[in-house]
Amino acid sequence: MGCQYFEPERGGAESYTVAMPKFTFGRGCLKEVGERAAGLGMKRVALFTDSYLQSTEYFATASDSLQSSGIAFDVFSDIRIEPDDDTICQAAKFLKQGRFDGVISLGGGSVMDTAKASMVYALYPAEFSTYFGPPVGPGTAVPGPLLPHLACPTTSGTGSECTSVSVIRISRFNTKFVMGSPHLLPDEALVDPAVCDTLPAKVVASTGFDLLCHALECYTAKAYTKWEKVDNPLARTMLQGANPWSDMAARKALEIAGEYLVRGVADQTDHQARDALMWGASLAGMAFGNSGTHLAHAMSYGITHLMDNITTEGYTMESPFIPHGISVVISAPAIFRYLGEGAPERHLQAAGFLAADCLDAGSEDAGEVVATRLIELMQNTQMPNGLNAVGFGSDDIQALARSSIRQTRAIHNAPKVANLTDMESIYAGALSYW
Ligand SMILES: [Fe+2]
Repeated sequence: MGCQYFEPERGGAESYTVAMPKFTFGRGCLKEVGERAAGLGMKRVALFTDSYLQSTEYFATASDSLQSSGIAFDVFSDIRIEPDDDTICQAAKFLKQGRFDGVISLGGGSVMDTAKASMVYALYPAEFSTYFGPPVGPGTAVPGPLLPHLACPTTSGTGSECTSVSVIRISRFNTKFVMGSPHLLPDEALVDPAVCDTLPAKVVASTGFDLLCHALECYTAKAYTKWEKVDNPLARTMLQGANPWSDMAARKALEIAGEYLVRGVADQTDHQARDALMWGASLAGMAFGNSGTHLAHAMSYGITHLMDNITTEGYTMESPFIPHGISVVISAPAIFRYLGEGAPERHLQAAGFLAADCLDAGSEDAGEVVATRLIELMQNTQMPNGLNAVGFGSDDIQALARSSIRQTRAIHNAPKVANLTDMESIYAGALSYW
């Protein structure tokens, strides 16, 4: 079945490329940060983190390790959750002034994505829209390499340490768009699951659904052979559709989410579950960094664009704020009900990896079994019950669809391409589930 999914297509891509950072995983490995930075040739480092992390033991571990290795560093911590163009411009200015020879990011996706994007504008200054594709800008390729980057994630969801993308809120559009370039891939990832020991349950839940959706979207993505062949191999995007590599990593990440998500949310002391989720987040990053996500991520952007007067429990952000993982999973049951017929076998397999009860399910049930399992996991982790629960109603559906339809690359990476009317129906089906 796996091979059939990648049947050659006339005019379609004939090969796929895998890119990965050098990768270290293990409880306590954050103390290696100084030696690893030295190994990358760093002597004067820009250390990106956020203001909360700067007061934690994890920051102290990293800074002590850098000092022990004789590496000088300056800290940039003025990073909000979901960084915008202003954050990136400030960070780029910090990088230019500091004359650094390397970058370390210690934080969640917001911190790592700020480090990636700010290097682009510090080294290759341009009008902000330049490196984003339509509708933001012309999608000019990032011209060359960035500084060596050692990425140290502190949440079990984003996977940004393993991807060549950066997600930034563009103020002019008031929503997020993706910048992608092979040059954005960190050189090394240092993944210490002990940093998740103190994460609140709500954060483990929302980031856990981010990892789950990364893996689920990868596994059900359009096959790379169905994307057009690109003549210049160096111009090939890493968001190239499902491929045998992304299948392998996505499958394991789905199995981890199916087995450990509820446990990791329920019990802060369950290190087995929380460590597994951290590994799953990186695996899902390795998968979607080489395949791309699709409709659940595309349709999350309309939600974070139009959210109003809502702050999700467990986060200290001011309203309006919906965590990324919640914005993605909240429509996911309705999305996979819609997509199931686009790749039924893939959906049935993915449901099985998530430990769904699908022994008697046939092709016509493919979307439903995925949706049912997602809803079960959402209920067991106290997720909001659909769009109604985060402040949206039927009157918002058209505007949500009009916003998300702009995420063209992701929409076309799905096994079935949604138009505006489809998106309206999906959002209508996502208002509440139980
Ligand atoms: Fe995500």
